[in-house]
Amino acid sequence: MALSFKYLGFFIHLIACIFSYVEAKERQNANAEVERIFKNYNIIPDVLDAAPPRFLEVKNIRNVFTTLISRQNSMPIHFQIFFEPNLIAGRGAILTPTQTIHPPEIFWEAKPGAYYTLMMIDPDAPSRSSPRFRSYQHWLVTNIPGDQIEKGDIVVGYIGAVPPKHTGLHRYVLLLYKQPHKLIKKDTFVPSNSRNGRFYFNASTFAKKHNLGLPIAANFFLAEWDEYVPVANKQLEGGH
Ligand SMILES: *[C@@H]1O[C@H](CO)[C@@H](O)[C@H](O)[C@H]1NC(C)=O
Repeated sequence: MALSFKYLGFFIHLIACIFSYVEAKERQNANAEVERIFKNYNIIPDVLDAAPPRFLEVKNIRNVFTTLISRQNSMPIHFQIFFEPNLIAGRGAILTPTQTIHPPEIFWEAKPGAYYTLMMIDPDAPSRSSPRFRSYQHWLVTNIPGDQIEKGDIVVGYIGAVPPKHTGLHRYVLLLYKQPHKLIKKDTFVPSNSRNGRFYFNASTFAKKHNLGLPIAANFFLAEWDEYVPVANKQLEGGH
């Protein structure tokens, strides 16, 4: 009897070891895959020095169909929104700016009680060949409780991809950081209708300032100019 308990304990231990080995191996493979793809697209070293442990899952970017209603109207463009639930928006997928009008839905496994910072940046402003505004901020939300982005503090209001005409594909990088605690240092608020304060953003410098460490997940998509860009630029002229 005593002997069989001993064996049982041994087997439980063995199985636990195998599970943790498989888990560690999977983590390693995920990290290697992120590193391979990020290096392939030069996200490393243009934005990050090292690969985050996993891809951020970016899903359900709402697809938008634009209809011209009237040119005399002060609001010449009317948007009809459709959902396209399985539109993959990561790992270098190519989207149109029109498909990025609304913020993507993003999911992650949040630790209970933890706060997160999420950002979306374009290191290729105004173009990948001459990125003199690197990086342009599209979205920055801090103090996200769990994965409830809508409950976080908006520092930079969301705008979709707005790559200038004839500048080719831009990379739009989404970074997720786990905060050590709730942030109290205030950052200058940039509303969704303002261009000011969006240029020359350095994710590493921001992370250092707030002790965020390295991103815990990241992903990116690509986009180049389409006819939505001038519409979005109009919106950006609303602010200062
Ligand atoms: C951000 O700042 C760090 C430290 O000053 C610098 O090494 C890095 O190249 C900068 N990154 C970008 C993308 O400009």
